[in-house]
Amino acid sequence: MKRTLGTCYYPEHWPEDIWAEDAVRMADLGLTWVRVGEFAWSRLEPAPGQLQLDWLERAIDTLMAKGLNVVLGTPTAAPPRWMLDRHPDMLAVDDGGHPRGFGSRRHYCFSHDGYRAEAVRITRILARRFGARAAAWQVDNEYGCHDTVYSYSDAARRAFRDWLCQRYQSPDALNQAWGNVFWSMEYDSFDQIDLPNLTVAQANPAHALDFRRFSSDQVVRFNAAQVAAIRAHSNAPVSHNYMGRTLEFDHFATGERMEIAAWDSYPLGFLEDRSEAPARHKRRYARQGDPDFQAFHHDLYRAVGRDGRWWVMEQQPGPVNWAPHNPAPLAGMVRLWTWEAFAHGAECVSYFRWRQIPFSQEHYHAGLLRPDSAAAPGFAEAAQVVRELVAMPDVEQAQAPVGLVFDYAAAWAWAVQPQGQGCDYFRLIFDIYRGLRKLGLSIDILPADTRDLAGYSLVVIPGLVTIPERLMTAIAKARAQVLIGPRSGATPRNRTLPGPLPPAIPGLDVTVTRVETLRPDMPVPVDGAGAVILWREALEGTADVLDTDVAGGRVAMRSGRLTYLGGWPDPGLLRRLLLRACRDAGLPHLDLPPDIRVRQSGPTRFVFNHGPDPVAFEGRTLPPAGVAWG
Ligand code: GAL
Repeated sequence: MKRTLGTCYYPEHWPEDIWAEDAVRMADLGLTWVRVGEFAWSRLEPAPGQLQLDWLERAIDTLMAKGLNVVLGTPTAAPPRWMLDRHPDMLAVDDGGHPRGFGSRRHYCFSHDGYRAEAVRITRILARRFGARAAAWQVDNEYGCHDTVYSYSDAARRAFRDWLCQRYQSPDALNQAWGNVFWSMEYDSFDQIDLPNLTVAQANPAHALDFRRFSSDQVVRFNAAQVAAIRAHSNAPVSHNYMGRTLEFDHFATGERMEIAAWDSYPLGFLEDRSEAPARHKRRYARQGDPDFQAFHHDLYRAVGRDGRWWVMEQQPGPVNWAPHNPAPLAGMVRLWTWEAFAHGAECVSYFRWRQIPFSQEHYHAGLLRPDSAAAPGFAEAAQVVRELVAMPDVEQAQAPVGLVFDYAAAWAWAVQPQGQGCDYFRLIFDIYRGLRKLGLSIDILPADTRDLAGYSLVVIPGLVTIPERLMTAIAKARAQVLIGPRSGATPRNRTLPGPLPPAIPGLDVTVTRVETLRPDMPVPVDGAGAVILWREALEGTADVLDTDVAGGRVAMRSGRLTYLGGWPDPGLLRRLLLRACRDAGLPHLDLPPDIRVRQSGPTRFVFNHGPDPVAFEGRTLPPAGVAWG
């Protein structure tokens, strides 16, 4: 498949007489996709029922006349002000009980039936009118962005009670499952059950976990309703643009109904805003972004998309406006980010946005063009990618040698009971992903209900609090080396009890008998290399002991292909574990310089220099932001 480029365009922000010139310049640049419409509700329907769709039709036709394909966004992330008059209780409510205000976006509650019906209504109107024109769809915009999945509204409370009633059938069954005898928390009726905010002490973790499952289901349902409305009038593929490090809803479940998973890649914003990396790391990569964060999400969304179809719907083209600090990218990084996405299989990389806006919250956010329409620095880099794409026949994709299991429900279990500050599921997964990448390995991310691990040499399953039966069966059948743990292996029967539970992994006789969490200044060194940090388990069982710590604790135990890891590994310990697993799997690895990352895409190997300095690697010197393939 030929890789393509696009941009995000807001015709409603600009006088109509410049649309045609914009379309010409987009096409001349070599873009083929333009996303429009996703925040335009107040212009599409200025008052309830008063539709004004002609301007959008003219904008779409102007773009299509220049050969551009349109991704039409449904405008439901930004309900207009009149919507509040119609549905005063549609606002999401925060965990302090305060309704979230109008005046930005994403203020709706996923559980509000009236708002969901409005969202379906406007989607149906757009699908009917533009179903034949849209070459692809985007539903809503960035679910969960601005902390918007959890809502403690009356609508959410009612819906949660219904959800619980369906799940447990009787209050007794719920009391039993949640362990409500503790602290006399037993209920006589579902109507007594509140949302798990504003409790005096910590809410029952089973209650909190069910609220997270419920909230995720509400997102899935909200999305599915719009997808159905689109499908009734259009055969074009449907997508949603997910975000970075957003774990509050299950993207695999949401993605099931859509062809394309897209995500919005803001490498510099994410480094500042969503990373625990130490200050020196943030300083070194301030203009390049974290060397692994984008790649992780590329691999994740390849797994979320149907048949591996995924896009970058929004690519940072210059400084953004929303992180604590917003530096400009190092020259060459916009090109590197684009090629990195293609190397991981993106069909399209679409820059956010075409032209910088001279007003509003995003006044200082760069586009491909400056507000005066002169080219901004990202423009030339996009043009370079266009020229390079002409010379590149295709980027093929093949199964990676390494599988990394990633699960949203595990993230919720860790969040509900972290047991220690800093014990965060994403952080653990990302540490391991980074460790694998530093060895030059290409990785597929796999959901926890994966049935088949065939073809992988190494499978890593960190922090999966509950291992579903299906995955257990796949592990038993796999030929791969499998590294499991820490905090893994509760049986599905125990799934409402997030916490330290004995692993129940057939063929691996290891039991966790105790869990402790560690202050950041008390790592426990491991004999030979590295240390256990943050999370440490005491292990018993008959499996072979592979590693012990200086206190005599067992760190890793193995039976055949299966290894259990009873602690959070620091980079040194992780490297040792992964090198051993590679050796046992017969899997070749590289010793990469710190700034270099590689990605094997079918027969082509891409090499990226994420550092600010030139790096010598395999007989050539890569400049800062350098990309090489061959
Ligand atoms: C994204 C969002 C866009 C725009 C952009 C700015 O999160 O989808 O609408 O706000 O950030 O970086």
